[in-house]
Amino acid sequence: MLEEVLRCLDPRPGETFLDATVGYGGHAEPIAARLGEKGRLIGIDLDSEALSATRKAAKEWPCRTEFEHAGYDEMPDVLDRLGIGKVDGLLADLGVSSPQLDRPERGFSFQGDGPLDMRMDPEGYPTAAEWLAAAEEREIRRALWEFGEEKRAAAIAKALVRERRKRPIDTTGDLTRIVLSCFPDRDRAGRVHPATRTYQALRIVVNHELERLERLLSFLPDRLGPGGRVVILAYHSLEDRLVKRAFQEWSGKSDPVLSRIPIRGEIPGRAIILTPKALRPSPAEVARNPRSRSARLRAAKRTSLA
Ligand SMILES: C[S@@+](CC[C@H](N)C(=O)[O-])C[C@H]1O[C@@H](n2cnc3c(N)ncnc32)[C@H](O)[C@@H]1O
Repeated sequence: MLEEVLRCLDPRPGETFLDATVGYGGHAEPIAARLGEKGRLIGIDLDSEALSATRKAAKEWPCRTEFEHAGYDEMPDVLDRLGIGKVDGLLADLGVSSPQLDRPERGFSFQGDGPLDMRMDPEGYPTAAEWLAAAEEREIRRALWEFGEEKRAAAIAKALVRERRKRPIDTTGDLTRIVLSCFPDRDRAGRVHPATRTYQALRIVVNHELERLERLLSFLPDRLGPGGRVVILAYHSLEDRLVKRAFQEWSGKSDPVLSRIPIRGEIPGRAIILTPKALRPSPAEVARNPRSRSARLRAAKRTSLA
């Protein structure tokens, strides 16, 4: 959804932008081109491999660039360290990158076999295998239900606990096999692989995805300058719900008092929502890049209200 991202972010020459999930720079590069020589782009990512590739590529980009190995929830510290008060634009393209998904050794995908890792930051917190080895059955069930919206959460949690008594579940092949054993044959032929929701749930747990996103959203309005634009691309409904709610709050729409006092036809708020409904990829984009099919893009623009 590159075109929509650029249209909503509208990067202009000389501005300062933050790409909070810079990855391999697929969005950052065209943003940098629009910021031009006088612009500044800060890229954050938890994945040090992606960062070093992008740092190298950015030598060819026209604007000043700085890259930080950090979580996007550490944005205030990163900006403080760089002496930046507020930015003119922020992009957060949440989730997993294609290179992370495609490499079995990162353990994000049920396609292929590799260590059950799933950490965005290979230097951080326990792997999915370590979490699964230590969690109680009810914790696993809750994670699958809440973060994967998996209807068979109870059966899968039970099977995982039963299997880990026999031997550790430490590869994606083990996990996929155990999850599949909890589904009838007819479900295995569907469009969505039965292990999709379990993988999503474990990834969210291992990387504290929802807590991190909530933290980012909580301080974002303070670090976006007046007129600043924010675009967030979410890939599942749990993330998207948090973004939608935060934008509504900033815009004053969720405030029972403020939302009833229009001033000069405007509802006063800290932001204007640019996407009343989340934008979705076109069928042509989904055909070109099937992984984009779950993307939901929301954008907002900061007002000058403190
Ligand atoms: C969908 S990819 C972004 C791709 C990027 N927009 C591009 O065009 O190459 C998501 C990226 O977010 C990173 N990431 C995930 N959670 C993060 C977090 N809490 N803080 C910083 N980066 C994170 C991942 O490592 C991954 O590189």
